[in-house]
Amino acid sequence: MSQKQPIGVFDSGYGGLTVLKEIVKKLPQYDYLYLGDNARAPYGNRSFETVYQYTLQCVERLFAMNCNLVIIACNTASAKALRTIQQVDLPKKYPDKRVLGVIRPTTELVGKYTKTGHVGVLGTKGTVASNSYPIEIEKFFPDIKVYQEACPMWVPLVENNEYTSSAADYFVKQNIDSLFAKSKIIDTIILGCTHYPLLIEKIKKYTPQNITLLSQGEIVAESLADYLNRHPEIETICSKGGSVDFYTSDSEENFNEAASVFFGQQVKSKHLNF
Ligand code: DGL
Repeated sequence: MSQKQPIGVFDSGYGGLTVLKEIVKKLPQYDYLYLGDNARAPYGNRSFETVYQYTLQCVERLFAMNCNLVIIACNTASAKALRTIQQVDLPKKYPDKRVLGVIRPTTELVGKYTKTGHVGVLGTKGTVASNSYPIEIEKFFPDIKVYQEACPMWVPLVENNEYTSSAADYFVKQNIDSLFAKSKIIDTIILGCTHYPLLIEKIKKYTPQNITLLSQGEIVAESLADYLNRHPEIETICSKGGSVDFYTSDSEENFNEAASVFFGQQVKSKHLNF
């Protein structure tokens, strides 16, 4: 039997599972390997250098486990590490491997949704400070005005299983109100963090009804399908056994319990040390 060559999906913690779920739904034929760096999550408030180092370590671990293509299903890591990995590390050390992020597929599409031209972005402190969303959106839609709001408490709420609590209500309302104070005519909001779909009910509760909320799962799955169509040289080296394996840098037990809820089916993870 030939060795598996799974597609790697990486996040600082559980958030990337919201992307993996949609990818597996859209492209069930491939093998997947998910890595959550739960032991070091959240990444959102960490420095550029730290996020880059952690992300590179995780990507290299996925390469060592036979992944030829890795999706960084984390906005913070996509904002702070993806470009250096693509432009420096891959050409130098891994010319045959590929790494993709989640920001570009989202920014390419946003113009389809907004009528007022005012778009909100909710993200971690790191993602917001990097300005990746305004910079990328401007390339495709120079007339769109982007209003950003950093939500530093949202990832910790999800990672600590508090996303249905009244504490979550408090912080979600606070950040949504603060976003709309920047522009009253925002009609489209990008959930620019893969953890945020887990807070979707709370987000809806405090957002006017006519607002479009863009989650990244389906968008990234669609864009991956398109990428694989356009890159047969990569597609053919992704094995097709329909398996999904999970790894975490923290406790397997905790991961299995939370991830089963987020992923929507039973998860049995293995521990990885960094
Ligand atoms: N899911 C990550 C993101 O999309 C969360 C980052 C964090 O660990 O703070 O940004």
